[in-house]
Amino acid sequence: MRPSLWLVALGASALGAPRREYDHQNDTYAPRFREFVAAADARVGLTPFFSPDTSADASASLVREARESVDVFAPAVESWSGCGATKSGCAGCAPDRVRANEAFVLFRELLNAAHRGVRVRLLTNRFDSVRECAGAVSVLSYFAENFDVRTYTSTTFMHAKAMIVDNNVTAISSVNWSKSSYLENREAGVVARSKSVAEFAGEVFEYDWSVAEVWRMPANDGISEDEIQRMKSSEWLEPFPIPSRNISAPHYSPKKLRETWCKGAAVKVSVSPDAGAATMLEAMNASATLDIYTYQITDDFFASRLLKLADAGVIVRIVLSRAIFSDVDRKLSASLVDKMRENEKIVFRSSPRYYRYAHLKIMIVDRGREGERVVLATGNLSPSDLPLPVRPFLPLHKGGASINRDFEIVMHDANIVEQFQNLFDGDMAYTSPYRRPSKF
Ligand SMILES: *[C@@H]1O[C@H](CO)[C@@H](O)[C@H](O)[C@H]1NC(C)=O
Ligand SMILES: *[C@@H]1O[C@H](CO)[C@@H](O)[C@H](O)[C@H]1NC(C)=O
Ligand SMILES: *[C@@H]1O[C@H](CO)[C@@H](O)[C@H](O)[C@H]1NC(C)=O
Ligand SMILES: *[C@@H]1O[C@H](CO)[C@@H](O)[C@H](O)[C@H]1NC(C)=O
Ligand SMILES: *[C@@H]1O[C@H](CO)[C@@H](O)[C@H](O)[C@H]1NC(C)=O
Repeated sequence: MRPSLWLVALGASALGAPRREYDHQNDTYAPRFREFVAAADARVGLTPFFSPDTSADASASLVREARESVDVFAPAVESWSGCGATKSGCAGCAPDRVRANEAFVLFRELLNAAHRGVRVRLLTNRFDSVRECAGAVSVLSYFAENFDVRTYTSTTFMHAKAMIVDNNVTAISSVNWSKSSYLENREAGVVARSKSVAEFAGEVFEYDWSVAEVWRMPANDGISEDEIQRMKSSEWLEPFPIPSRNISAPHYSPKKLRETWCKGAAVKVSVSPDAGAATMLEAMNASATLDIYTYQITDDFFASRLLKLADAGVIVRIVLSRAIFSDVDRKLSASLVDKMRENEKIVFRSSPRYYRYAHLKIMIVDRGREGERVVLATGNLSPSDLPLPVRPFLPLHKGGASINRDFEIVMHDANIVEQFQNLFDGDMAYTSPYRRPSKF
């Protein structure tokens, strides 16, 4: 490891980054959102959820309980019914077919919510590589006929997976809106019932929404007026049964997850790029034990931080995904972990083989000791997700480094720690000795 990285980042003083506005002169986006800590006397209800066990249920229930509003951060919207991109390069299905068949677990829930008067807003990314086939709509365009959809521009990419319901419930997770994420991967999230947490997340949403671009169904698409009217129909759609995954091999499945009410001061939330890296650095600063279960490590600085902790006597165990989708990330993570393993103090394992990806991002710190906590993030230990030093960022379309929007939540609560530790230990029993990640 290059020790200089640590010094460079410290010298730039990521902690306590100044609150600055959008810099029009230089066309850059500056850190805006500080770390948020709920008021000491507030109460926050926390319920974990995990894929493949309970994510679908947790997400569907949240949308179903919405009375006023649903604000969503979702990096992409995938069809679960074969209406994604085809070999010929275009995507979508005839609108009537999407209406009748689309099995994405929130497809019907979100349409029903919008039609019972809930204000639904979906913030996602624009993928220029995807276009809709003539006469076909993507799930995203179908949604856009029924509620507001915008595409993110604040930084390079919207990588957060979060949902804010009625301005008082916030779900933060690693769960993409893909079938694989809900049913084939190991993923982790938490539902936080708290007005003030929702207000913080809502402030971030309002900012990103205010600079986002309105999504419109591509013109000249061969969709008739009648088809459009049927897409907009407010008739209630019976949701499909929530699918479940049966794993035939011996495996761990979390027992019924408990809601835990804790003091406001026990919960911290931040967003990347802003205060995210500083929050993570402080939260992972273990004094005794550090268990990490995450997708990949491609960030030299965070890697050197982990080695420093291990050298200082902290017992560090890291479970990494047995597969990584992106070729670039797979190679970066494999070579960085090879270097880290020279140290031999850190235990590395590969995730159970019956999960496609271990796409969750969690850390359990100092379990059973003063200050024990769980850190859950939507982003990876990657420079795009936790950029340091914190400096003004270029918005989308302006080139420069890749900078993602992500959320981090730190929970200081013994009950929550226990539930995440059970997941870590439960899966740990079915991990393999570390192997370089494959594509699938
Ligand atoms: C724009 O960037 C230049 C060079 O980094 C800096 O000197 C100037 O103060 C910046 N402008 C604003 C409005 O911050
Ligand atoms: C999650 O979604 C993002 C955005 O579409 C994508 O880049 C990433 O590969 C997905 N990861 C997994 C493991 O599903
Ligand atoms: C959240 O707000 C909705 C709508 O105002 C309300 O019905 C619900 O009881 C609230 N939930 C909590 C946990 O405060
Ligand atoms: C999973 O197992 C349950 C109970 O054994 C069964 O009812 C269900 O059909 C199975 N699901 C799938 C997708 O095979
Ligand atoms: C980590 O903890 C040590 C003491 O336990 C402290 O000296 C150091 O400043 C902390 N670092 C961060 C980044 O919080």
